[in-house]
This record gives sequence, C-alpha cells and structure tokens, in this order.
Amino acid sequence: MITLKKKFSDSYNFVYNKTVILRVDLNVPIQDEKIVDSTRIKKILPTIKKLLEQRAKIILLSHFGRPEGSWNKDLSLITVAKELEVLIGKKVLLVTTNVKKLKKDDIEEKFKNVDILLLENIRFYPEEEKNEDKFVKKISSLADIFINECFSCSHRDHASISGIPKYLPSFPGKLLEHEIQNLKNLFLVQNETDGLAVLGGSKISTKIKLLEFYAGKFSKVLIGGAMANTICCAQGYEIGVSLYEKKMIKFSNKIIEKFGDKILLPLDFIVTNKKMDSQPIAKNKENISKNDLILDIGPQTRMLFYNEILKTKTILWNGPLGLFERKPYDEGTIFVLQAIRANKIKNFFSVAGGGDTISILNQASCFDDFSFVSTGGGAFLEFIQGALMPGLTSLND
Ligand code: 3PG
Repeated sequence: MITLKKKFSDSYNFVYNKTVILRVDLNVPIQDEKIVDSTRIKKILPTIKKLLEQRAKIILLSHFGRPEGSWNKDLSLITVAKELEVLIGKKVLLVTTNVKKLKKDDIEEKFKNVDILLLENIRFYPEEEKNEDKFVKKISSLADIFINECFSCSHRDHASISGIPKYLPSFPGKLLEHEIQNLKNLFLVQNETDGLAVLGGSKISTKIKLLEFYAGKFSKVLIGGAMANTICCAQGYEIGVSLYEKKMIKFSNKIIEKFGDKILLPLDFIVTNKKMDSQPIAKNKENISKNDLILDIGPQTRMLFYNEILKTKTILWNGPLGLFERKPYDEGTIFVLQAIRANKIKNFFSVAGGGDTISILNQASCFDDFSFVSTGGGAFLEFIQGALMPGLTSLND
C-alpha cells in the first residue's frame, strides 16, 4: 500500500505564477450530448480554484472514452468543456490543435485571454497509451509543473499519468490525496472481523481478486447481481434463463469451498420471463424454473442484507444487486442501500466505488450517506486490493 511523499499543499509555492498541467478525469457519462452525472467534474473544482488563487495558468488534460489512438468526434471533450465552464464560472478554451504541433509560445499566446485551457481528448494520440517518451517530452515542454488529479486513471501506465512526472516537478491533486487517505482506511480496520463487503454487478470474472481479498479480510461478503447467479448455478440451483458466466463455475465452487461460511448469497429473487414482459414476482431460490429470468434480489434477501449492514462497523460497497438501470429491478439495491443511513454504530465507516457505483448512489439518493465515495472505477478496485499504481508511484520518484 502506497504512501504519498508529497501533498497538494506542497505545490502551492511551486505553482505560483507558473503554467501547470492538471491531469483530470473528465470521462463522465454522456447521453444525447448531455452529461448524466457531473460528479467527476464537480470534484476537481476546489483544485482548479486553488490553482487560480495561486495565479497559475492551467492546462487541463483528460481522456474521454476509449478512442484507441484516433480522432473521433463522438469522443470530443467539447460538451465537457462547456459544462466545466459553467461550473467553474470562468472561460475554458478547448484546444483542438494537434498537441504534437503545439509550442509553449502558442500556449502563452492563448493564456493572454484565458486562464484555463483544455487540450482535446489525450487518447486521440496513440502515443498516450503507449507512454511514448517523445510524446511525453513534448507535452511536458508546454508547462512548468504537473499535478495528477486523476486517481481514477492512476492504474494506467500512460503518458499523461506516469510519463510526465519524469520531466516535470510533480504533485498529487487535492482529490487524489483525499481518495488515498480515505481508501487506506479499509486496510487500517483494526478488527477486521468488523468489516463487510457488498459486491454486485454482472461479472464475477472482473471481481475475482476483490472477492478473494475481502472474503479473506472481512467477516462477510454479501453478493448480489448476476455474480450471484453464477455462484448459485455452481451450487446446483436452477437459474433459468438468467445471466451467468459459465467459465466462472469452477472458480465459484472453489470460492465457496474456501470461504463458504463468510459468503452470503441471495435466498430469493425477483424474476420475470425471458422477454421481460411478465409481471415480476418473488421466488425462493429453490423454486426458480427453467423459464425464469432473475433480475433482482427478493424481499428475504433484502432484509438479510439490510440487517447485516446495520451490525457492521466498516463497509465496502461495489456494484448493483440487480438490473439497476431498469425499473422495478433497482428496488433491491435501493432498499439495501438505506441501511447505510440507518446504521448508527459509532465511527461507522462506509466506502463505495468502482464501475457505475456513483450513478447508482445518485439514483438512489444516498451518495451523501457514505463516509466516502470514490471517483475511481477500475482504479478503485485495484487500489483497495493493495495494488501499487504507476500514476501514484511516479509521484514519489
Ligand atoms: C474510468 O472511467 O474508470 C476512468 O476514466 C478510466 O477509464 P479507462 O478504464 O478507460 O482507463
């Protein structure tokens, strides 16, 4: 587990009157050209404001989606630039010039009219993901200081993450620092038998390590979503036409053998038919039939999970317990999430993150009930299993 040697506040004197590259994560969900959830943008505002107070000029760098090294107008940062401008209350200039052709003089010229530039999607360049040295040097030559405010991409060994610190004095951003301080608490749980993890989502294959790690560390792991279908299937239960991962049956058996006493699986489900046009009904897991499609946890499971959460001192939440994006199959997750607010144990510490977890918490109106909600998806999952991440280690070099 990494300890950062520098703090954001250590950068204050360095950035005064200087040009700063601020690597952020503006990879926000967009539908029909509208931002669905701007949490990631809002969370970087304090850092931008602090840098402006220090009279710094800011070059924002971000990726958006996975354009795989080529220009793609659907993955432009244009919508995000407009939203950022509104939220920060200052002009943000989107620079669409090829970064490989930009010179420091061009940047200085642009800074005569604005204090914040946003370079177009850094993943439009194949050199970004390859962490190509010439490209890294080129970007670094545009500024004096680098700040990594992108915890959610710090597991990537990319040019704008772990490359630039080789050439510029580098510091963590405020949000990145905050992520690490909070997520470390999951490791510092004194009596680990007090901890509980809630894991949901569709694929057990993406959560193998997480499941093993927290089943070993905490007293209980509660499992929902299609992940639970795979384990139930491995145990010999009928799961009808529900989503599951055939290739993970063996692993599921192993995990049950090793941690069976710690893993809590659903007792019942909400099911419909394959076309999803029959009335959703609750069924015990022993009564699932060949035509049933499992889409949520049932009422007994909701109560079981709710009551477990009321008794725990530390909780880690990742993923939905049902098909959250389709009503009424969000009800199981929303019900169980209410237990976070209802837990009155002194110093109760609750952390959520990974994948679409932020949108789930917003939809369930319980974002503020958690002690900490990470902006990280894959990075969150890696960090909480103790992985050393290139974007973090490079700040210490
Ligand atoms: C995320 O959404 O988790 C981050 O923006 C990282 O995106 P990536 O998985 O495409 O690197």
